[in-house]
Amino acid sequence: MRMLDLIEKKREGQALSTEEIHFFIDGYTRDQIPDYQVSALLMAIYFKGMTDQEISDLTMAMVDSGDTVDLSPIKGIKVDKHSTGGVGDKTSLIVGPLVAAAGVPVAKMSGRGLGHTGGTIDKLEAIPGFHIELSRDEFIEHVNTHKIAIVGQSGNLTPADKKLYALRDVTGTVASIPLIASSIMSKKIASGADSIVLDVKVGSGAFMKTLEDARRLAAEMVSIGKSLNRQTIAVLSDMNQPLGREVGNANEVREAIDVLKGQGEERLTEVCLTIASQMVVAGGIYKDVESAHEGLQELISSGQALEQFKTFVQAQGGDPAVIDDPSQLPEASQHIKFQTDQEGYVHSIDAEQVGLAAMLLGAGRQQKEDAIDYAVGITLLKKVGDPINIGDTLAVLHCQHPSVAEALEKLEAAYQISSQKPEEQPIIYDIIK
Ligand code: URA
Repeated sequence: MRMLDLIEKKREGQALSTEEIHFFIDGYTRDQIPDYQVSALLMAIYFKGMTDQEISDLTMAMVDSGDTVDLSPIKGIKVDKHSTGGVGDKTSLIVGPLVAAAGVPVAKMSGRGLGHTGGTIDKLEAIPGFHIELSRDEFIEHVNTHKIAIVGQSGNLTPADKKLYALRDVTGTVASIPLIASSIMSKKIASGADSIVLDVKVGSGAFMKTLEDARRLAAEMVSIGKSLNRQTIAVLSDMNQPLGREVGNANEVREAIDVLKGQGEERLTEVCLTIASQMVVAGGIYKDVESAHEGLQELISSGQALEQFKTFVQAQGGDPAVIDDPSQLPEASQHIKFQTDQEGYVHSIDAEQVGLAAMLLGAGRQQKEDAIDYAVGITLLKKVGDPINIGDTLAVLHCQHPSVAEALEKLEAAYQISSQKPEEQPIIYDIIK
């Protein structure tokens, strides 16, 4: 088999066979096929697409490129959750303990943030003492004892995806539905869950800018899951503005605690309840999403969900006192107001610009090895649809030094003000099974 033939075949829009896909993934993982040939094939895939069979083969070839996690020692139906990424997306911090409190075991591997999006692992590390490394046996024992453990991705899971993602990043081939679908699903399959609930973000701050593209990506991932016997459900949720009011690591932990206390922003709470409802139904705890929604709300109002969060934090070395007193979380030394000189309504808030502003303050990384500051971030006091007057504070920057001109410029670019109140966007667009 020759890589050149595969490139030409895909260039002409033909489907690659199972053997051909395994050949290219195995060869690339072992450094036997050079980046330039794989780049050419990726670009051909970007333009010509892939059939469902090819996408499923590509997913499995990436799963087979490394280790897989065996979660069978954990009792119960294991349900994983994955978000396609956004700004202010702290849903895992909320949904994890909530679902665990309902009785579904949560054995989750999460990532760090890169660029304008944050990562669950960084947010958890904002809690003093919290550690994200557990041995395999500890991981299993934590889930069996406390119903939940969240760790960083370790070991050699989907090495082909790691290499391919890095190459896609520098060859303009990230935004391809077959490539995104197989990348996400390979990691979820290798992580060993029985069922997968996907939170596919739609809008200016997401990979998928339109509902149509998000539906296509969601349908593709659901179909991959089905073909590999993993029940997969995709929730399509709004990312036309940051999720919730807080962006930044300690800030987002604070907001997650508010939601678990029943005091969270309505739209953020609704996304979490929708995802969690799908998870507890998939986990066999509730018969339907209506009763699940009600049951989960009860777990929040009774304080059980928050108690579960505390148990989880303590079990992984974190200081549980921060749950009762979030002011013990890292706090920035300065708070700078972003004020407006306009009046009207907040028409839109470009989530990507807000994410970049938070990154400039130090909440995120430009390069993988950069250190981050858990204390810095942004609080959005005004969100889409809110009326504003000249001099109002739209957002507060939590920072460590006063030179924040660049971050303020990003916020200036993010907020669009109009004279008319904009129509309210749904928070959940669709659920695809
Ligand atoms: N997230 C992933 O894991 N992979 C992609 O290709 C895009 C988003």
